[in-house]
Amino acid sequence: MTTGYTIWLTGLSGAGKSTLAEALTAVLQERGQRVEVLDGDVVRTHLSKGLGFSKDDRDTNIRRIGWVCDLVARHGGVAIAAAISPYQSVRDEVRSSTERFFEVFVDCPLETCIERDVKGLYAKALSGEIPHFTGVSDPYEAPLAPEVTVNTASEPLGVSLERILAALEERGYLTANRPLI
Ligand code: ADX
Repeated sequence: MTTGYTIWLTGLSGAGKSTLAEALTAVLQERGQRVEVLDGDVVRTHLSKGLGFSKDDRDTNIRRIGWVCDLVARHGGVAIAAAISPYQSVRDEVRSSTERFFEVFVDCPLETCIERDVKGLYAKALSGEIPHFTGVSDPYEAPLAPEVTVNTASEPLGVSLERILAALEERGYLTANRPLI
């Protein structure tokens, strides 16, 4: 059984966390690892149903996601969390209570997220229709010491993916995919 670990993707809404989680899942599964994704949008329809976006509710959401990630990792799986997780303190809390925690800052300028506005939520946040929206009217604290930072505005998905995989290999979470001969 492989040793489990948690990949924690943090970043603004629309930065590309879910896309990266999906791409990582495919590669890691190909490499024989068992992967579970905990995506904020999805978790909020089940495990965190009823929670809002106050600091307290966001922190509760993150603690729950972290708790499940740890469970998955303890059983040899790879847990990938894709949640804004805007506060450093609760990310640190999860880091210290989770074995083998690998934090990825999915960095993307707010302007680019607003331009992309995949879900149409930034327009609503900017008009004031959605209050306390991360990056617009609510804080986002960029990680102080993430294991790796990817910039989804200036590098293609494949490059971000390779950089994460290389960092995972460096830390021994993943065996390098070397040619057989
Ligand atoms: S977190 O702050 O608790 O980590 P999470 O990742 O679960 O957030 O959920 C974020 C998603 O909820 C966003 O991608 C967006 O689709 C939606 N959302 C709705 N309201 C807000 C808001 N006020 N701030 C941020 N995201 C919001």
